[in-house]
Amino acid sequence: MDGPILVTGGTGTLGRAVVAQLLDEGVAVRVMSRRPRRADDDRACEWAVCDLADGVGLDAALAGVRAVVHCATNIRDDTATTRRLVEAARRTGGPHLVYISIVGIDEVPLPYYRSKLEAERIIQGSGLPWTILRTTQFHDLVATLTTVQRRLPLVLMPSGLRFQSVEVTEVAGRLVGLSQGAPAGRVPDMAGPEVRDARDLAGATLRAAGLRRPVVPVWLPGKILRRLRAGANLAPDRAVGTGTFEQYLAARAGAGRL
Ligand SMILES: NC(=O)c1ccc[n+]([C@@H]2O[C@H](COP(=O)([O-])OP(=O)(O)OC[C@H]3O[C@@H](n4cnc5c(N)ncnc54)[C@H](OP(=O)(O)O)[C@@H]3O)[C@@H](O)[C@H]2O)c1
Repeated sequence: MDGPILVTGGTGTLGRAVVAQLLDEGVAVRVMSRRPRRADDDRACEWAVCDLADGVGLDAALAGVRAVVHCATNIRDDTATTRRLVEAARRTGGPHLVYISIVGIDEVPLPYYRSKLEAERIIQGSGLPWTILRTTQFHDLVATLTTVQRRLPLVLMPSGLRFQSVEVTEVAGRLVGLSQGAPAGRVPDMAGPEVRDARDLAGATLRAAGLRRPVVPVWLPGKILRRLRAGANLAPDRAVGTGTFEQYLAARAGAGRL
């Protein structure tokens, strides 16, 4: 099937990287965003204004596409937006739907994770051709846990928390490959190269940003933190990402973006 690949959330951290790599490969791309295209955006892609919260513009966004890389997310609930996308995709030609999900969503009872698990189930039962990739946290998110606290005299980090964060451009590369292949179902998880303590990662982020702050561990009760302390967000046997957190920090600091 010909036609462009629609990237929902094509303006976000992951979606931008997916769009860039598809364009590099000469693939026709349509970006979905709630906002009109910026005047200074001269990338060679189509643009579809659509809000998945109400579905306005959705059929036009999907018209003629051969695949959808679904990166748009609503941190309060990924389920309703994904259901709306799936229903419209079934009406408009049944493109291959590629969904990005998160390692450990079936073990950590965060409401957002539950909504992503339900979104996975909707896709799996949709009758559409589908592929789902779960990854660990992106380096960007892990760095943000520290940089959002930069105005405080200290940085608080839950004790016992570890991350195996992954370089977002590598995740994008995997999604780009999957979106151009045959539907593959749930593919093997993708995780970064190192399992690191959250305090250690916070210290590295502060050093890279040229900030001096103590990193203070905080013990947090509850099932969510217990599951995370047990490593539900990690996939040590799937450490296929190669870009390290330090490489990410060096690149960001070099670009003046930390
Ligand atoms: N961040 C991580 O560490 C991580 C790890 C594993 C998996 N993931 C998954 O990767 C995906 C992308 O994450 P991200 O960090 O790249 O997200 P992000 O930077 O927050 O981007 C979210 C995107 O969603 C779009 N969006 C939000 N609400 C929308 C709506 N109602 N209708 C249409 N578009 C909407 C936004 O587009 P506009 O603002 O332009 O409308 C934006 O491009 C998510 O599914 C997330 O669960 C993330």
